Amino acid sequence: MSSAFLEVRDLVKHFPVGRSRLFQAKPDMLKAVDGISFDLPQSRTLGLVGESGCGKSTTARLVLRLIEPSNGEVRLEGVDILRAPADELQRMRREMQLVFQDPLSSLNPRMSVGVNIAEPLRFHRLGDRAERSEKARELLEVVGLKQRDYDRYPHEMSGGQCQRVAIARALILRPKLVIFDEPVSALDVSIQAQILSLLLQLQRDFALTYIFISHDLSVIKRVCDTTAVMYLGKIVELASSEELYRRPLHPYTQALLQAIPLPDPKAKRAGDLGGLEGDVPSPIRPPSGCRFHTRCPHRMPVCSEREPELKELASGHQVACFLHDS
Ligand SMILES: Nc1ncnc2c1ncn2[C@@H]1O[C@H](COP(=O)(O)OP(=O)(O)OP(=O)(O)O)[C@@H](O)[C@H]1O
Ligand code: SF4
Ligand SMILES: [Mg+2]
Repeated sequence: MSSAFLEVRDLVKHFPVGRSRLFQAKPDMLKAVDGISFDLPQSRTLGLVGESGCGKSTTARLVLRLIEPSNGEVRLEGVDILRAPADELQRMRREMQLVFQDPLSSLNPRMSVGVNIAEPLRFHRLGDRAERSEKARELLEVVGLKQRDYDRYPHEMSGGQCQRVAIARALILRPKLVIFDEPVSALDVSIQAQILSLLLQLQRDFALTYIFISHDLSVIKRVCDTTAVMYLGKIVELASSEELYRRPLHPYTQALLQAIPLPDPKAKRAGDLGGLEGDVPSPIRPPSGCRFHTRCPHRMPVCSEREPELKELASGHQVACFLHDS
């Protein structure tokens, strides 16, 4: 049996779409996530990266079973959360938390910071009012806020402070897995660095396992042990972050890496996605064969005919591209 803390196998989410789907025998299906698999060991971080609409947030919602998959398996410590009975799922939900890009959307503007942080305990009927308040005060310090912030309201705080509140709220149930969906994208670069340091510190202190979603590879590089690159609902490359940055094998990963802004603003930038042709195609009718073939500078005749499998080329380095088929 695999020893991974989190195992995801062949996960699929197709959304029915189309204005007249009531009258259509078969509605069009938007292939948001189309058969992805990965393992994540405990206390490690997996990064999910890719352009807007490639299926990162849908993957997060599937892993937490906030939405039902069309197919596939998600196992947390060996338990299949997609088939867990309601009481087991309730317990597992406490162990998995999600932090969003916009903390204000996950905080209740009418509740004080302290009450917001304690809210998940109330929701799960854990502890009495005094115990919940004490825990919330503890968490305030853990995330680098002050005791006096307890009675403030979210709108009185900065974006970075609100994100600390959202992190405290996610941690109060002592989760094992935390998924961060673009947690620093809305923050200034200096504040981003502080929040990323906090996340790394919390991971060490509480042995947390993270999935970290971002479209920004430089952010992913700082925090993730392993990185999965997604394109139109598929993982096209997965490797240790170090290996992925040193030796990107998929043409799409190479384009993403070229698009990272250089630290010196006067230096030449590679431009938007390394000058790739065209836009991302529709996930309703994705291109045949390799989904990336319509934009790939290395495409070959086979690329539109057959779909490349995700294959392991070196230890832990998987890529789905015919250029690397032996
Ligand atoms: N409830 C839904 N119904 C129909 N389509 C959906 C639904 N949720 C997501 N989608 C579609 O699924 C695809 C993947 O969306 P998702 O939000 O997972 O992408 P993402 O990678 O998180 O993008 P972003 O970087 O913009 O957040 C998109 O085409 C999106 O429009
Ligand atoms: S399979 Fe072909 S089209 Fe797809 S990334 Fe590789 S070379 Fe490009
Ligand atoms: Mg998203």
